[in-house]
Amino acid sequence: MENIQELTNTYIAKTYNRAPLQLIRGEGSLVYDTEGGRYIDLGTGIAVNQFGIADSAWIQAVTAQLSCLQHTSNIYYSAPGAQLAQMLCQRTGMERVFFSNSGAEANECAIKTARRRAYQTYGDESHSTIITLQSSFHGRTITTLSATGQDCFHTEFGPFTGGFVHARPGDIEDLHRLADSCDCCAVMLETIQGEGGINVLDREYVRAAWELCKQKDMLLIVDEVQTGNGRTGKLYSYMHYDITPDIVTTAKGLAGGLPMGATLLGSRCADVLTPGSHGSTFGGNPVAAAGAVSIIERIDDALLTNVLRKEQLIRTALADAPGVIGVSGRGLMLGIQCEKKAGDIMSRAAEEGVLVLTAKDKVRLLPALNIPDDLLLEAMEILKKVIAE
Ligand SMILES: Cc1ncc(COP(=O)(O)O)c(C=O)c1O
Repeated sequence: MENIQELTNTYIAKTYNRAPLQLIRGEGSLVYDTEGGRYIDLGTGIAVNQFGIADSAWIQAVTAQLSCLQHTSNIYYSAPGAQLAQMLCQRTGMERVFFSNSGAEANECAIKTARRRAYQTYGDESHSTIITLQSSFHGRTITTLSATGQDCFHTEFGPFTGGFVHARPGDIEDLHRLADSCDCCAVMLETIQGEGGINVLDREYVRAAWELCKQKDMLLIVDEVQTGNGRTGKLYSYMHYDITPDIVTTAKGLAGGLPMGATLLGSRCADVLTPGSHGSTFGGNPVAAAGAVSIIERIDDALLTNVLRKEQLIRTALADAPGVIGVSGRGLMLGIQCEKKAGDIMSRAAEEGVLVLTAKDKVRLLPALNIPDDLLLEAMEILKKVIAE
C-alpha cells in the first residue's frame, strides 16, 4: 500500500496543516487510526458528526435513500428535501429553505437574498452594504471572505466583493454608526464566533442588532453554520436570545456527515428568490437530505437538555484545573483559554488519545451531542493532565 501521508503531501493542495494521524474508522465518539490507536473524539470533524461516527439511525436513513435514488436534479420533486424543509420551517418559524452544500454557499445565498430584496425595494444597488462583525468567519469564497471580519484570511486574495463593513462585536454604538453612515441591507453575525475564538455575543447586543434591523429595514442574518443543529443546547443558537432573525444559515452538522448547507428564509424575504435567480446542482441532494432528516428529528428537548448537562460536566471538570484560565462558549461548543499554547495542547492531547481543535488561542471542544458521559469524563481527565503539564 502506498504511504498515504506521502500521497497526500504530494498530490493534495497544501491548504491544511495535518496531524500525523490517519483515521480509518470509528464508533460513536471513538475513532481509530491505522496503528490501532484509540481516540476520544471531541472535534467531530469540526462540528459535523452530530451523533458521532457510524450512528445506526443515520446510516439506515442514508443507505435507504442511497439504494433508491442517489441524486436528482432540482427540476423534479423529491421527498427528502421537501420533508427536511418542512421540518426546519416548523421548528424555526422560517418560511422557506434554499439548500446548498456548504456553509459558505449557505451564506452566499443569504447575501444574495438581502441584496436582491434591497434592489427590489429601492430599484437600484444603493442599499447593498452588509454589516458583519470583526473576528467573524463566514466562509472562503471571495464574497464570504469579504464578509469575514478577519484580515488574516484576506491576505493576497483581493480584489474582493465590495459592500461589506465590519463592526466591533458587542459595541452597539458602532453598529448604529455604520448603519447611519452607509445604506445597508443587512447585519450578519454569529451568536458565538467560532473561528474567531469562541466569543459569545451578549444578549443585549444581539437584541439591539435585531431592533436596529427592524428600524432600518435591514435583514438580520444569523450564521449558524457552526452553532446550529443542537450544538449550543438549542436547535439554533439564536433561540437563546429571544429574537426572530430574517435569515438563518447552517451547514456542518445539519446532515450529520454529508455535505449540506441550508439558508432559512423568514417572512420578510421568503419570496425574494425566484426561478433562475439562484440554484445549485447538488443542493438538497436526496441522500444528504435523508441524513439531515434523521439528525434534525432527533434533536428534541431531551437531547438539548443533555447537551446543556454535558456542558456542565465539562465546566465542572475544568473549574480550578491547573493551567486553565477560563472557558467560553455554550452547550457543546466550548473554548478553553489555557496558560500553554492551544496548538501544543492539541498535539499532546492527540498523543494521549483525545482529539480536540483550536480556535485562535483557545482549545476548542465540539464533541458529538450524544457523547457518553463516561467517555467525556475520561477525555477531560486526559485534557486536564495535558493542560497542566
Ligand atoms: C460560522 C461559519 N460560517 C461559515 C463557515 C464556512 O463553512 P464551510 O466550510 O462549510 O463553507 C464556517 C466554517 O467553519 C463557520 O464556522
